[in-house]
Amino acid sequence: MRILGIDTSCDDTSASVVENGIKIISNIVSGQSEIHKKYGGIVPELASRKHVEMIIPVVEQALKKAEIELKDIDGIAVCHGPGLIGSLLVGCSFAKAICYTTKIPLLAVNHLEGHIFASFLEEPRPEFPFIALIVSGGHTSLYMVDGFDRYRELGKTRDDAAGEAYDKVSKLLGLGYPGGPVIDSLAKEGNPKAIDFPRAYLPESFDFSFSGIKTAVLNFVKSTGFENYEIKTKKPELLLDIAASFQAAVVDVLVRKTEWAIKRTWIKRVVLSGGVAANSQLRRRMKEMGDEREAEIIIPSIPLCTDNAAMIAAAGYHHLLTGKLADLTLNPKAYLPL
Ligand code: KG4
Ligand code: ZN
Repeated sequence: MRILGIDTSCDDTSASVVENGIKIISNIVSGQSEIHKKYGGIVPELASRKHVEMIIPVVEQALKKAEIELKDIDGIAVCHGPGLIGSLLVGCSFAKAICYTTKIPLLAVNHLEGHIFASFLEEPRPEFPFIALIVSGGHTSLYMVDGFDRYRELGKTRDDAAGEAYDKVSKLLGLGYPGGPVIDSLAKEGNPKAIDFPRAYLPESFDFSFSGIKTAVLNFVKSTGFENYEIKTKKPELLLDIAASFQAAVVDVLVRKTEWAIKRTWIKRVVLSGGVAANSQLRRRMKEMGDEREAEIIIPSIPLCTDNAAMIAAAGYHHLLTGKLADLTLNPKAYLPL
């Protein structure tokens, strides 16, 4: 079965064709970071306008690359939330219009479910049950996944998501958007032990909190006597240490909480996904923890960790298989728990 996946939840317009939930035939992602960069974060109105411009060419390109036509598609899976409402509306309206005219079944996929199912697009594929840590710009959530549509939330962030912390720290240091890749690369040159930023472990809970660390970085910068944006030009070595120490604190919490989840649930299989799962240090430390605990750690390749429509199509396949069809009353939701 071939599924056309569509994701317009945030600032990437993406379309993909996936066969049987595991084989990527095409996966086109048109990013917008050039547009949002100068504002230091995503401007929702600009994001939705760009989606309107890009949705048709991106879907056409996905079909062309897959060398198929709409008549060969068995289902259209669209992300209907969570995300930016204006952005989601573009993908959902487009998918509904196509399904209305072609009678192709419409499949409504939660974005977080998509991030979980990204792990099925490459070898080795996880077996159920597994623990899933989804770390992105909008989410930091830990789940127990017993099967398709059987997700139990263990914990989530009480304030900022991990990616949001990266983006906000990057903005305050004048490093631009998105912050994750820039901080990740600066951190490679710095000392992770130079500054002892706080780690919010929130004992007895699988919840996370990342707003404190952003304030801690701000307070540290103030204590140096320099303005935030001056650090990168006047104290470049200190900038490297700030990046490395900030990253060490975020990664410590993510790895430790996942380790607790393994201990508590006895499930020795972890899927790590979402944009922050592209982080080099997090990937390395999570694998090391897995080796120590003899747990299998599955982390998709970087283009499948960040937003893409192949993951939506992979999850959509299971919707079609189990008859979980959406209809034309489908409306996107900015807030949509899994
Ligand atoms: O999953 P994603 O592409 O979009 C959302 O669903 O939010 O995640 C985007 C987030 C951004 O906050 C970005 O800064 C972060 O992922 N990110 C990273 C890295 N690459 C992207 N964070 C840390 N290290 C990276 N290498
Ligand atoms: Zn995402």
